[in-house]
Amino acid sequence: MIFPCAPARSVTAMRIGILGTGHVGKAIAAGAAAAGHDVVFGSRTPDTRTDLGHPALPLADAAAGADLVVNALTSNASLPTLTALAAALDGKVLLDIGVDLTAELGLAHPNSSLGEKLQAALPATHVVKSLCTIDHEAMAQPLKTFATPTTIFLSGDDAAAKATVGAFLEDLGWAPEDQLDLGGITTARGQEHFALLFMAVGDALQNYTFNFQLVKPVA
Ligand SMILES: NC(=O)c1ccc[n+]([C@@H]2O[C@H](COP(=O)([O-])OP(=O)(O)OC[C@H]3O[C@@H](n4cnc5c(N)ncnc54)[C@H](OP(=O)(O)O)[C@@H]3O)[C@@H](O)[C@H]2O)c1
Repeated sequence: MIFPCAPARSVTAMRIGILGTGHVGKAIAAGAAAAGHDVVFGSRTPDTRTDLGHPALPLADAAAGADLVVNALTSNASLPTLTALAAALDGKVLLDIGVDLTAELGLAHPNSSLGEKLQAALPATHVVKSLCTIDHEAMAQPLKTFATPTTIFLSGDDAAAKATVGAFLEDLGWAPEDQLDLGGITTARGQEHFALLFMAVGDALQNYTFNFQLVKPVA
C-alpha cells in the first residue's frame, strides 16, 4: 500500500500560537508551517529566541493573537502558567499536548488529568487534549514515521473545538479515520495515564518511536 506524503485536503491557513519552545513546540511548528499555517511561539524569553525560524512573543501575546493555541509547555509549568493567561485564552481553542508527571515519572493527577484541570481553571477556553500519546518526533509526521497508519485520540467538551483540532491533525498527517474522539475532557485522563504504558513499552523496546493502531474484531 502506498501512503500519501502530505494531506490531500485544502488547508485554511490559521495562526498557530505555540506556547513552549522545546521538543514538542518545535515539532508542531515544523508540521504546522509545512501545512501552510502561520506559526508564532510563546516563550518566557522571546527577545533572545531568534533561533526558532518563527517569531517568538511573550506568552500572552502569542495566545491572544492565535486562531489555535498549542500547550507545549513543560509539564508541571502548564497549569500555573496557563491559568495566569486566562484573559489571553478567553474564547480560544487550546490544543493541550501536556502530560503532567512527577519528578519520579508518576502521575501528577492520578484521579484526574492536566486536561481536566486546565478546563476547570479556564472555563472560557475550549481545551482539547490530543497528541500526548506519542513521541514528539512522530506528532507532526506520522506517515513518515510509522510503517502503517496509527491511531491518535481527542478529548474535549466542545464539538466545534474538537473539529478545529481534528482538521489541524489532518494537516499534520493524521487522516480522519485514524482519529478517535474519546468524548469529553474527562477522557483526557486515559490519554495522559497511558504515559505509564508508553514509557514501559519504550523502555522494553529501548526505542520510543512507536504508536498503537486500533484494530477492530473480526466481523
Ligand atoms: N517530548 C515528547 O516526546 C512528549 C510526548 C508527549 C507529551 N509531551 C508533553 O509535552 C509537554 C512539552 O514537552 P517537551 O518535551 O517539549 O518539553 P521541553 O522540551 O522541556 O520544553 C518545554 C518548554 O516549556 C517552557 N518552559 C520550561 N519551563 C517553564 C516554566 N517553569 N514556566 C513556563 N514555561 C516553561 C520552555 O520554553 P521557553 O524557555 O521558551 O519559555 C521549554 O522549552 C510536556 O507536558 C510533556 O509531558 C512530550
